[in-house]
Amino acid sequence: MKGIILAGGSGTRMQPATLSTSKQLLSVYDKPMLYYPLSVLMLAEIRDILIISTPTSLPLIKEFLSDGSHLGLKLSYSVQEEPRGIADAFRIGADHIGDENIALILGDNIFHGAGFPRVLRDALSDLDGCTLFGYPVSDPERYGVAEVDEHGSLLSITEKPDNPSSNNAITGLYFYTPDVVDIARELTASDRGELEVTDINNIYLKEGRAKVIRLGRGYTWIDAGTHDSVLSASQYVQVIEKRQGVRVACLEEISLRMGYIDPNACHRLGKRLEKSDYGKYLMQIAYSLD
Ligand code: TTP
Repeated sequence: MKGIILAGGSGTRMQPATLSTSKQLLSVYDKPMLYYPLSVLMLAEIRDILIISTPTSLPLIKEFLSDGSHLGLKLSYSVQEEPRGIADAFRIGADHIGDENIALILGDNIFHGAGFPRVLRDALSDLDGCTLFGYPVSDPERYGVAEVDEHGSLLSITEKPDNPSSNNAITGLYFYTPDVVDIARELTASDRGELEVTDINNIYLKEGRAKVIRLGRGYTWIDAGTHDSVLSASQYVQVIEKRQGVRVACLEEISLRMGYIDPNACHRLGKRLEKSDYGKYLMQIAYSLD
């Protein structure tokens, strides 16, 4: 199983904050936005991950995540010259995917909830075609919307419908079998000039190989594409972290728990950031994980 984080885009809704940096490098409370999608792939036990971003943002991302070996990961990088759409990730990442299953997550998507790692691993274990994740929202017309029957089988997916058939938005986390590369290569651009991930999902749907897992109560999903949603996400993370004394999307902690790094390495990573609460937390948990 391989992973891709699609962390390019133009971030026009967050200008001027995004004029000289990537949206994915902006802070969501105490860490860069990109930590959140990366933590999701790590929780799914995916370690070989391609990060795709713009020509200007990719060097900045590379500078602080490097080859990922300090986290026990294998990170690689590819440029997306223009924001040609989400499905473009499978063309750019074709060599990376090879003949393995692939998890794609968008760089501005934040997921959190008890038991999420298990949900991810269960979804991967019976993957055939595509598995998507649905989340109930109050404004489904802004998203791809799934209609699902009582067995969880997908009936339809409609991109930004005027009259949504449900409130079940398709989130920015997608699992596919490797044939997604061939499907993506056959796509043509939509009216808005993008290679649409919804077109890929509809092909699997026609083949009867598409599934949606509905993330209900107990899960949080935030599409952090606007200043308001980034602020909401920051407040959410702040509340969890202050109240529970744990960190959300703390990559070094996840590595330690997964056994990818040892306590000494975790402590060393914390020491480099020791003036920050994040660094202090790493030093504190290094030898006392519960
Ligand atoms: P969007 O939020 O749809 O687009 P954007 O980031 O360019 O922002 P805006 O609409 O404000 O201009 O993208 C969702 C995520 O997918 C985001 O993390 C960027 C990423 N993305 C790419 O990396 N390449 C693409 O071609 C597209 C469409 C999105």
